This record gives sequence, structure tokens and C-alpha cells, in this order.
Amino acid sequence: MHLSSTIFGLVALANETVSLTLSVASSPENASSPLLYGLFFEDIYHSGDGGMYGELIRNRAFQGTQDGNGQTGSPSLTPTTRYWSAVGSGVSFNIDSSTPKLSSALASHMKVSVPRGATGQVGFCNDGYYGFSVDSTKRYIADFYFRGTYTGNMTTYFQSTLNGQRFSAVNTSISQTSAQGWKQYYTDVFNPSSSAPNANNTLCFSFDGSKLAGQSIYVNLISAFKQTFNNRANGLREDLAMALSDMNQAYLRLPGGNNLEGNAPPYFLNWTQTVGPLENRPGFPGTWGSTQTNGLGLVELMQWAEDMNLDVVLGVWGGLYLNGATITQADLSPYVQLALDEMEFLTGDTSTKFGALRAQHGRSAPFKVPYVEIGNEDFLNNGYNSYVNYRFNAFYQALSPRYPNVNYISTVEWTPPSGVAVDLHPYGNESYFKSLFNAFDHKPRSIPLFVAEYAVTNSGNNTGQTGAQTFGMALAEAIFLLGCERNSDVVKGTSYGALIKSYDEAPDTVAVIKQTADEVLLTMSYYVQKLFSTYYGKDGALSVAASGGGFDPYYWAASKSGSRTILKVVSYGGSKSSVAVVVNGSKATGATLVRMSAPSSTRINNLKSRGGESSSITTLQLNSAGGQAGTFSLPFAAGYELAILLVDG
Ligand SMILES: *[C@@H]1O[C@H](CO)[C@@H](O)[C@H](O)[C@H]1NC(C)=O
Ligand SMILES: *[C@@H]1O[C@H](CO)[C@@H](O)[C@H](O)[C@H]1NC(C)=O
Ligand SMILES: *[C@@H]1O[C@H](CO)[C@@H](O)[C@H](O)[C@H]1NC(C)=O
Ligand SMILES: *[C@@H]1O[C@H](CO)[C@@H](O)[C@H](O)[C@H]1NC(C)=O
Ligand SMILES: *[C@@H]1O[C@H](CO)[C@@H](O)[C@H](O)[C@H]1NC(C)=O
Ligand SMILES: *[C@@H]1O[C@H](CO)[C@@H](O)[C@H](O)[C@H]1NC(C)=O
Ligand SMILES: *[C@@H]1O[C@H](CO)[C@@H](O)[C@H](O)[C@H]1NC(C)=O
Ligand SMILES: *[C@@H]1O[C@H](CO)[C@@H](O)[C@H](O)[C@H]1NC(C)=O
Repeated sequence: MHLSSTIFGLVALANETVSLTLSVASSPENASSPLLYGLFFEDIYHSGDGGMYGELIRNRAFQGTQDGNGQTGSPSLTPTTRYWSAVGSGVSFNIDSSTPKLSSALASHMKVSVPRGATGQVGFCNDGYYGFSVDSTKRYIADFYFRGTYTGNMTTYFQSTLNGQRFSAVNTSISQTSAQGWKQYYTDVFNPSSSAPNANNTLCFSFDGSKLAGQSIYVNLISAFKQTFNNRANGLREDLAMALSDMNQAYLRLPGGNNLEGNAPPYFLNWTQTVGPLENRPGFPGTWGSTQTNGLGLVELMQWAEDMNLDVVLGVWGGLYLNGATITQADLSPYVQLALDEMEFLTGDTSTKFGALRAQHGRSAPFKVPYVEIGNEDFLNNGYNSYVNYRFNAFYQALSPRYPNVNYISTVEWTPPSGVAVDLHPYGNESYFKSLFNAFDHKPRSIPLFVAEYAVTNSGNNTGQTGAQTFGMALAEAIFLLGCERNSDVVKGTSYGALIKSYDEAPDTVAVIKQTADEVLLTMSYYVQKLFSTYYGKDGALSVAASGGGFDPYYWAASKSGSRTILKVVSYGGSKSSVAVVVNGSKATGATLVRMSAPSSTRINNLKSRGGESSSITTLQLNSAGGQAGTFSLPFAAGYELAILLVDG
């Protein structure tokens, strides 16, 4: 009986016909937000250092290495020599802070001691962020500061930790005495002699041991970059940045959420410590378990936005630390001034104090900052009352007269001053997100909304996070986004949290993208967001009338882009069948169907080395049904699927 009912079920699925007919209006009813699909970045689980930031060396300037696994770490700025190892027998090293120091921000350095009688090569190797990508088709460069007495070559090479194979060698001539203090050296730009088959490599710097026998040398800010996105100095990791650029998003929220807040006094993400020469950036005990270099600082983040043509949503610190410590009203003014200075630094011309500082740091043209968000999740840890009572207003009343064309965003749900938006951050399971489909249908139109963080973190119950999103989770997000798109007159922007995480560090929590040193995992959510923004009509939301059924298991939204009608339909447990579509007023006798599918709702995408992607995107051409212009039969090949119908004219 069990068997036959299963067979019956399968037959029924194959034969089922759906009577659902969707008719799409010919012209837009409401405006749609040009900003609707965006990115939210913060350094979480090595999405900055070891992720988007192109720096390959880990613990490059001894700024603290209390790297835990996610929030279990308790980052500090206590220097260690972690992630470094010695070349040459008897070579040892320790943290040293003798004078001269490289800078007051980078006051500790590594002392490398070479034993008497040393011969051969001596030096040090770095572990990288879970290894190094060694790719002979790419250019690399390394540099560092040196103090000591040495005249000879320094050899830089990648080496496999599995079999000792060397992949490259570039020599740099050093000639220096101790009395000269710190000097900076750059290697020539080099290509590895061959590519490594995996990331299990170190990067080493070695010296002629006989010349250093019985001596010590000092090194600091030891840096190496593979060629970066747009070839920027101190730039972004190229493959990750290209994956993000391919998403066709509209904004970048920076520099973080909880990470902006900081764990506890006195550490919040103070922008002044993230700009200027790297020697002047002391590092930051981040909120997500690891110490950060701040190498990917404010200007680098702004440059990222500019290079990808993204509008900036700038988060300024709002007076609340993550542990609940709050700046009192009486003590708030230096922090308000810090936000004013930050805006002047970014947008002021070079005649202003901080605009001049920006120019001094190499960027004379002002940046554009159209959106400012005051704080992050200020309802956390009893922050709500101080936020609505004085914190929000202190910042808003100082910033808005000075920068009246900026759109301001508050981080709690309340009735803010007119024109100010509210940012909501839903996280939860798949069924919760499905239920949010109509969450915005009845929101007051007077308060603009952002969903500048969201994610389906679990498939079923709320216990434990799911490693990589299943197709079902990504489709539940898609249903939620359809609800945003239908209401994009009031929902101004959406962005997933978190954007990027290290696969090595956080395999068990969700992100849009995960990286290892030499691979990039594009999750199911990545493809949903990419398709949603690539096929999105900025010329208005179209109403859709349904007959023969309502929402569930099919969900939809339509928009207009020029003469193109875009209809998105998610089938979340529907049947393998067709939905009838009529585009009112259309003369089109053909349409394009872009379809995202996966073998089942529980499948995930993975790293190439671990099975690769199971989702796929196919493009089909449809003829109009019965030759009737504007009338189509939209076929679903599986119960869980995303279909995007493009009708031109
Ligand atoms: C499309 O046109 C039909 C017939 O005129 C009408 O019944 C339907 O409501 C229209 N659809 C929309 C969404 O306006
Ligand atoms: C290679 O590197 C990965 C990632 O760091 C690590 O998990 C693995 O143990 C390494 N393999 C070997 C054989 O060292
Ligand atoms: C680099 O210098 C070392 C000596 O310091 C030398 O043995 C080696 O041949 C040089 N390598 C190249 C590629 O010239
Ligand atoms: C140093 O390296 C250069 C370039 O690789 C090489 O020509 C030179 O011979 C090396 N010098 C010594 C002393 O090995
Ligand atoms: C931000 O950092 C700068 C530079 O370290 C420091 O002078 C300033 O006091 C900090 N601002 C606040 C409000 O803590
Ligand atoms: C899913 O999340 C919702 C909202 O948080 C919760 O009410 C529900 O119990 C969760 N479902 C399961 C199966 O745990
Ligand atoms: C929650 O879901 C996970 C994954 O499906 C499952 O392993 C676990 O047993 C469930 N826990 C409860 C309390 O239902
Ligand atoms: C347009 O906005 C109104 C609310 O002002 C809403 O009821 C309606 O569903 C929206 N239509 C579309 C197509 O988004």
C-alpha cells in the first residue's frame, strides 16, 4: 500500500495541471526603488582580512592574533608571532618592542635571531589565511620593513607544505646597517614559476645565513598581494570582487553592522584609525572573534563602491557598544563630531580640514555619500530607549543641516523624523521568511524602509545554522524578496547578511559567498540575488491579477524596464506544470525564460573541490501560446524553481 501510494503520487505530480493564470498590468502602478538590491559588508569570519582585502600575509604587523572560531574568540591587540615559522635550523623569533619602533600604531615587531655558525638560507615563512593561492597566471608583489645589518639578497618564494615544492623565487637586494633604522623593501612584481594544485603553501622570505650568523634582524608590516581587482594598490581580492561585481547590485552598506559597534569600550570602529598609511593603522579587536588590521579601511571600502558603481550607505557609530555600554547624552558630542568629521573627510572639498586630509592620503576628489545610517541595530542590549530619546537625534540634528541632501536611516522601528528611513533585519527559518512575503503590503508609505540585513539561517527549526543555504532556503529568501519588490515604493533596499565568510573558519553558517585561499563558493542565495537584480525593472512595479489560485505555492512580482515586462515567479513546492501568463497590451509573440533550478530543495552549492554547484541557470525561448501576442504558458520543470519571464514589447 505504501509503495502504490508513492507511485500514485508520482503519477499525479507528472499529470497535474495548474489552472493559475497571471495577468500583468501594462503600465506601472507604483515607483520601484532603483536601490532595491544591494550589498552589506562587514569584516565577519575573515570576510575582510583574509577575504575581500587582498593582503595574503596573516599577522603581518603583530597587531594581535586572538583568532577564535567566530564569536568564541576574544580578540585583543596583544602581539604574538602566531602564523609565522622559521627557515633554517636554530632560527628563532619573538615579539620585540625596542626602539626605534616602526610607528606608534605598529609599536611591536618581530625579532629574528640567527644562531652563531649559521650557513645556508635563514628567515621566516607565513601561514597565510588558510594557505596561499599560487597561480602562475597572476602577478604578485611583496614588501616589508627591515631593521638590522645585512648586505645581500633576500629570496621570496612560495613553498608547498605537503611536499616542499617551491613555486617561485624572486631576489631583492638589501643593503643596510642597523644605524639606518627601518627601511622598506619591495620585491619585483613576479609570477610564480608554476601554479600550485591546492592552497597548502607558505610564503617565505630567506637571507644568506652566513652573513647573519650570531645576529638579529627586525621586521614589520610584511605584506604580499596577488594582483587585485582593478589593479588597485592595497586593493581587493580579484576573484571575490569579480563575483560581487557580477551580481549587478546597486549599493554597498559599509563599514559593518555589529562590527561597527565594537564589543565593549573603548573599541568601536573609529574611522580615523582606518585611513592613511598602513603604518598608522593600529588594528581593531573585531566583534566576530578576530583582530583586524584595518587595512581594508574607509577609503578602500569607498573605492570598492566606486569601482563597482555602487551607491554608498555609510554607517556611522551611534553611541552603543555591543555589550550594551552606552554613551550618555552629556558625553556624546565627541562622537557626533567624529561623524561630522567623517562626512567632511569623505565628501568635503580639499579646502576643508578633513577634505585636505583625504587629499593628503592620496584621494583629492570627494566621494559621494547619498545615505547615512546612524548606528546599527540600536535596539540591542537595551539600546532602544537611549536611541529614540537622544542618540539618534544628536547625530541627525548635527548631520542633516550640514548634509541636507543625504538620506538618513535609523536602525530601530519607530516613527522617525519625516523622510528618515527605518532599517529592519529579519533572520530566521525558511517558513518564517515565506510568511514575510506580505509583511510590507500594509506598511505605512510615509516611512521608507530598508532591509539592509536579512538571511534564512535555518531550513526547518531554529536549532543551529545551516552551512550552505539549501535551494529551499534560497527560494524562501526569493519569496521574501518578491514581497519587497512588490512594495519597492516603500522598501528602498535589501542586502543579505553576511556577504562573505571564510569557508575554513565558518563552514556552518550562511553567507552569500564563502572563500578559501584559492576557491570561491557561490551559494544558492548568490544566484537568487544576482538574478533578482539583473532582471529588475527600475521603471516601476506592475500589478499582477491572479485567477484560478492565489499565492502559495506560487509567488510572484512584476516590474517594468523600458518596454520590457519582467515577471518573477517562485514555485515553492508547486507542481511540475505550467502557469498561464497574460501581459496586458503586449504585442510580443515570443519571450525569454530564465530558470534557476536544482535537483531538490535540500541540495546546496559547494566548493569545486567538494562537489561543486548543484544549482543551474538555463535560458529558454518561449513562443506565445496559440500564437496570441502577450500570452504565454510558463513551464515549471520541478516543484521548487525560480522562473523569470522577460517579455519585450
Ligand atoms: C489585464 O487585462 C484584463 C482584461 O482587460 C483585466 O481583467 C486585468 O485586470 C488586467 N490585469 C491587470 C493586472 O491590470
Ligand atoms: C591543506 O589545507 C587545508 C586548509 O587549511 C587543511 O584543512 C588541510 O589539513 C591541509 N592539508 C594538508 C595535507 O596539510
Ligand atoms: C638569489 O640569490 C641567492 C643568493 O642570495 C642565489 O643563490 C640565487 O641564485 C639567486 N636567485 C636568482 C633567481 O638569481
Ligand atoms: C642576488 O640576486 C641577483 C638577482 O637574482 C643575482 O643576479 C645575484 O647574483 C645575487 N647575488 C648573490 C650575491 O647571490
Ligand atoms: C578615534 O581615534 C582617534 C585616533 O586614535 C582618537 O584620537 C579619538 O579620540 C578617537 N575618537 C573617539 C571618539 O574615541
Ligand atoms: C520557524 O521560525 C518561526 C519564527 O521564529 C517559529 O515560530 C517557528 O517555530 C520555527 N519553526 C520551527 C519548525 O522551529
Ligand atoms: C532541527 O533541524 C535539524 C536539521 O534539520 C535536525 O537535525 C534537528 O534534529 C532538529 N531539531 C529539533 C529540536 O527538531
Ligand atoms: C502599490 O502600492 C499600494 C499601496 O500604496 C499597494 O496596495 C499596491 O499593492 C502596490 N502595487 C504594486 C503593483 O506594487
